[in-house]
Amino acid sequence: MPGTAGAMPGPPLAAAALLALLVPAAARSPGAAGCEVPPGGRFDCGPERLLSRAGCEARGCCYEPAGPGPGPGSGPGPPWCFFPRGYRSYRAENLTATASGYTAGLRRVAASFLPGEVGSLRLDVAMETPARLRFTLRDPARQRYEVPLATPRVSGRAASTLYGVQVNQDPFGLVVYRQRGGQVLLNTTVAPLFFADQFLQISTSLPSHFISGLGEHLTPLVLDTAWTRVTLWNRDMAPVPQVNLYGSHPFYLGMEDGGSAHGVFLLNSNAMDVLLQPSPALTWRTTGGILDFYVFLGPDPKSVVRQYLDVIGFPFMPPYWGLGFHLCRWGYSSTDITRQVVANMTAARFPLDVQWNDLDYMDAKRDFTFNEKSFKDYPEMVRDFHRSGLSPGFVPRQDPGISSSGPPGTYKPYDEGLKRGVFIRNATGQPLIGKVWPGPTAFPDFTNPETHEWWHDMVKDFHDQVPFDGMWIDMNEPSNFVEGSQDGCPNNSLEQPPYVPGVFGGRLRAGTICASSQQYLSSHYNLHSLYGLTEAIASHDALLRVRGKRPFVISRSTFAGHGRYAGHWTGDVSSDWEQLYYSVPEVLLFNLFGVPLVGADICGFVGDTSEELCVRWTQLGAFYPFMRNHNDHGTRPQEPYAFNPAAQAAMRNALRLRYSLLPFLYTLFHRAHSAGETVARPLFLEFPKDPNTWAVDRQLMWGGGLLITPVLEAGKTKVSGYFPAGTWYSLAGDSTIHSKGQWILLPAPLDTINVHVRAGHILPLQEPAFSTAESRKKGMALVVALTPDGFARGDLFWDDGESWQTFEKGDYTEILFLATHGAVLSQLLRVGAHLDGVLLEAVTVLGVTSPPRQVLANGALVGDFSYRSDTQVLRVPVSLPMWEQFVITWS
Ligand SMILES: *[C@@H]1O[C@H](CO)[C@@H](O)[C@H](O)[C@H]1NC(C)=O
Ligand SMILES: *[C@@H]1O[C@H](CO)[C@@H](O)[C@H](O)[C@H]1NC(C)=O
Ligand SMILES: *[C@@H]1O[C@H](CO)[C@@H](O)[C@H](O)[C@H]1NC(C)=O
Ligand SMILES: *[C@@H]1O[C@H](CO)[C@@H](O)[C@H](O)[C@H]1NC(C)=O
Ligand SMILES: *[C@@H]1O[C@H](CO)[C@@H](O)[C@H](O)[C@H]1NC(C)=O
Repeated sequence: MPGTAGAMPGPPLAAAALLALLVPAAARSPGAAGCEVPPGGRFDCGPERLLSRAGCEARGCCYEPAGPGPGPGSGPGPPWCFFPRGYRSYRAENLTATASGYTAGLRRVAASFLPGEVGSLRLDVAMETPARLRFTLRDPARQRYEVPLATPRVSGRAASTLYGVQVNQDPFGLVVYRQRGGQVLLNTTVAPLFFADQFLQISTSLPSHFISGLGEHLTPLVLDTAWTRVTLWNRDMAPVPQVNLYGSHPFYLGMEDGGSAHGVFLLNSNAMDVLLQPSPALTWRTTGGILDFYVFLGPDPKSVVRQYLDVIGFPFMPPYWGLGFHLCRWGYSSTDITRQVVANMTAARFPLDVQWNDLDYMDAKRDFTFNEKSFKDYPEMVRDFHRSGLSPGFVPRQDPGISSSGPPGTYKPYDEGLKRGVFIRNATGQPLIGKVWPGPTAFPDFTNPETHEWWHDMVKDFHDQVPFDGMWIDMNEPSNFVEGSQDGCPNNSLEQPPYVPGVFGGRLRAGTICASSQQYLSSHYNLHSLYGLTEAIASHDALLRVRGKRPFVISRSTFAGHGRYAGHWTGDVSSDWEQLYYSVPEVLLFNLFGVPLVGADICGFVGDTSEELCVRWTQLGAFYPFMRNHNDHGTRPQEPYAFNPAAQAAMRNALRLRYSLLPFLYTLFHRAHSAGETVARPLFLEFPKDPNTWAVDRQLMWGGGLLITPVLEAGKTKVSGYFPAGTWYSLAGDSTIHSKGQWILLPAPLDTINVHVRAGHILPLQEPAFSTAESRKKGMALVVALTPDGFARGDLFWDDGESWQTFEKGDYTEILFLATHGAVLSQLLRVGAHLDGVLLEAVTVLGVTSPPRQVLANGALVGDFSYRSDTQVLRVPVSLPMWEQFVITWS
């Protein structure tokens, strides 16, 4: 590899090294000579409009009608008008070493066809850590909008790095490659750079077709590189393929031959398209801001995720009750009905931790109010829930839109908000008025610190009346039922940019507010996709101040960094089998995005569910990190108790399974919060060297130890799953798979979900109950899944389940479990008081190859152990304090 920037010790750099870094490429004059580009490697020269041959050639580009369609933007095939090789745009000059890396000037050397082109740019390359590279392209003469996300400040340069960097001079391009092996990860020389006021574009080659990320869309785990356009612009949109949905995560993870992985994050919040093409290559095309890239070198995919989360923030720690079962529907029209639901759940012996209410509870659908007739005893209802044996938490819905049409003095949130100047403003400086559920509404501007104070005050006022436990923030793309505002939008360059990404509805303001409306930090044009994130931060902070406990916030709209503050549900999914499948990749992708507390509405939201679908969805939903059944208004009831006894029994089993696994799930959340890990995990994160795993998205893992193989199709009683090489035990202990890395057909009758434990792992379990408040006091159990040579390990994180920052304050218990040579023991890494009274009651050892003659627990003989030689399962009943170390041996 030429260029050895990564291996350089600190600055100053020798001139020769810089020369090696800067590669003068022979710039070609455009013309037929550069046009022999294979179709899969052609980059669109007419992104903003359809060009004729003459119009195309006037740009110095090549014209060749080919493939299925001409395309402005990306058609389903190669563009007809494309850049020749060596097309000139910017030239790099004056490359110099800086304290953190390099800087260079870029000068535009050929006329552009876009308005507002920036003639000189500044490139900064910062070698922040051995595995993390950052590079930015800015206008040195003018401060432009930059995303207000606090990212790590790094001074100095990493001494040795996994990457090397090379700068091509003319045309300008940046190459990032692995020091070891030389694999090129990025090469932006493949197509010209554009940096105009409202059109910034940079393309790169990709090392493989395995690209995952770029949410939020209804996609498989691995994106299709055969001419795919992925649009990012947060939108209230019931999930369908190929459409921009509620969130924006401009991050992808790419797999490389051999199983290494890298990631790329473009820190930019403007409306953008990301184009994938078969060569393979990727183009970022955004409509504002700057180009601010982070590249993560892994080299394994788990490290890539952690390195990404190092930049955007590790996930928040949810309260323990937040991992229980949540139940909601639009249509619980009174406190009587809501109480009935809880009573019916209890009567049918289903666990329930959190009862929710949708819009129904509000007075005229306004935030921070409740209906004085149908929800007259709302505060008492919530207190009763808290007092009842179930002690479910309670979450009401709040939308951002604040009703603006009542007479002054009748609705405090609007009156106060107006006085305190918290609303987004239109062109004449007044609150922009749109229309949401309550009718005309103003939109709080959560980039304004005063808005956070006002939001806190409203949350507190309402909480003083109704002591709710968490917040559900919906409609926060923000959604608007009129386009732009009740008064339309002005005609200006923000409303009519020269290039409009492939947003649903064709206009930026479709389904939302005017792009040119003004927020505290910048225009809505720049800040739009941050609306949900900024509201989540305000809600998280308000809840913490009001309740003094760990906040629980679930949001529909998200952006990079959301997981630090809140979770996500995947919006208005329909009750059909296709959406059941898509929920698996959605949940996996949000884990890669650092939002592990995620789930789809179980049984589907829109439309009538069926009994079979609802059973299968509840089985899968038991393995969503966030588990909520939520139904639309006017559709068939889908509470677990609404079905036939056999279906109820299957759902009860699934719920009991989840509740028994909660100590393991909670520990995974702790690992996510403290170490940047994922909770629900795609197989390839654990088995990157097995390319068969890379595209698996009909199965999911919890951590590294549990593999879930749900049925995702109607009428099936068998399911095929991929089992990476190794030993896998069914969680129930009744069967064992020794896989060489193969697909295996598993029996899956309607009452069964296949769950396998990976050899080498120990899972902490607890006897299930009807709420987490009860289950947390029950006996614990360990499932010990031995490798063929008899090893396993696992851990447990435990605290009071709701206090703020227990880990940071050291107020927790952490136990390590180890199995080796016919023994399993615990080691207390830290002991808080919270496990007092909890007993270890059962140890199940999977893979014990010869019948034990004697079993000892802390040296005392266990008489009533059982062993089955057909399944090789040893069961040891014990009664040992979890808060003390123990040793169990068998021989
Ligand atoms: C490079 O440096 C020279 C001398 O200072 C300056 O004239 C030129 O504008 C610089 N080029 C760029 C692209 O900044
Ligand atoms: C980067 O891409 C350019 C243009 O396709 C090509 O000429 C060059 O060889 C590539 N560089 C590397 C290091 O692959
Ligand atoms: C609760 O169960 C009763 C008895 O089966 C039924 O009549 C009622 O409709 C149920 N209520 C709700 C809200 O599901
Ligand atoms: C701005 O909003 C106000 C209502 O708050 C409205 O009366 C006014 O016409 C709007 N201005 C424009 C330019 O739309
Ligand atoms: C907006 O203004 C531009 C020129 O400033 C004009 O070409 C265009 O037709 C206008 N659009 C609308 C919808 O009025």
